[in-house]
Amino acid sequence: MMKSPKKVIRLSDLRSFRMKLPEPVGLVPTMGFLHEGHLSLVRQARKECASVVVSIFVNPTQFGPAEDLSKYPRDLERDLQLMSSAGVDLVWTPTMEEMYPAGYQTWVSLEELMKPLEGSMRPGHFRGVATVVSKLFNCVQPQKAYFGQKDAQQAAVIRRMSADLNFPIEVVICPIVREADGLAMSSRNIYLDARERQAALVLNRSLNAARSAYEKGERNASVLRKLVTDLINAEPLARLQYVSCADNETLMELVSLTGKTLLSMAVFLGKTRLIDNLVLG
Ligand code: PAJ
Repeated sequence: MMKSPKKVIRLSDLRSFRMKLPEPVGLVPTMGFLHEGHLSLVRQARKECASVVVSIFVNPTQFGPAEDLSKYPRDLERDLQLMSSAGVDLVWTPTMEEMYPAGYQTWVSLEELMKPLEGSMRPGHFRGVATVVSKLFNCVQPQKAYFGQKDAQQAAVIRRMSADLNFPIEVVICPIVREADGLAMSSRNIYLDARERQAALVLNRSLNAARSAYEKGERNASVLRKLVTDLINAEPLARLQYVSCADNETLMELVSLTGKTLLSMAVFLGKTRLIDNLVLG
């Protein structure tokens, strides 16, 4: 049985406890409602760092006007229990007032990486993410920070931002954690009813089909996009928003696959929007 993590709210408390933590310090930024995906990041941080800090903050600036911030699932008590068994040292739940004080007007934006994919469907989303993650980096000053490949474009944006802004922080990207039947874990999965939950398996199934085609030698990006599109369209409850076959670093759409390729998609099941991806090569 591990000991409960120290829980802090105010920035001044975070700073004084942070100073006493043995280094390297690993930070796992989250919006709470933790699942195995989040916990896999905590475990990786636990392996590589002397101390582990988790932040829980449902960041309003990364939600679009049509995305309901107030409905985002929350359960702090449960999160705290999960974190004590995972061996977290410090949990920081910042306040809105300290993160975005009245008169707030400073933003972090990336010229190109924010434009395609999720960025084109969710305008302003990555500006909110890059801004809040910069602030979390500045406040916690970790040596390492852990993010999931589940949000592939977010991972690319944060890696680029951290290098561009000279944060002395190693950004570690951890693999996608899936349910036993292959559905990528996500806080949004609880919105699916039983039929949608079953239909949602088509995301991982279509990625696996693309992987097999790739392994058999397929290198034509439009063929891979079409393969995924046809499989998603064959599932009556699923509505494809986009499928992309892009360079893993620049996220520019490809004609043919040569280097590391990110195959990614967004699919609606009813009102619930799910994303999933696979790296080829
Ligand atoms: P959140 O959605 O809570 O996710 C926190 C971290 O957990 C992210 O790095 C995300 O990629 C990772 N994660 C989620 N599901 C995962 C899965 N199935 N497998 C592996 N990792 C998974 O992402 C955010 O919060 C926010 O944008 C944040 C970075 C905290 C900034 O507000």
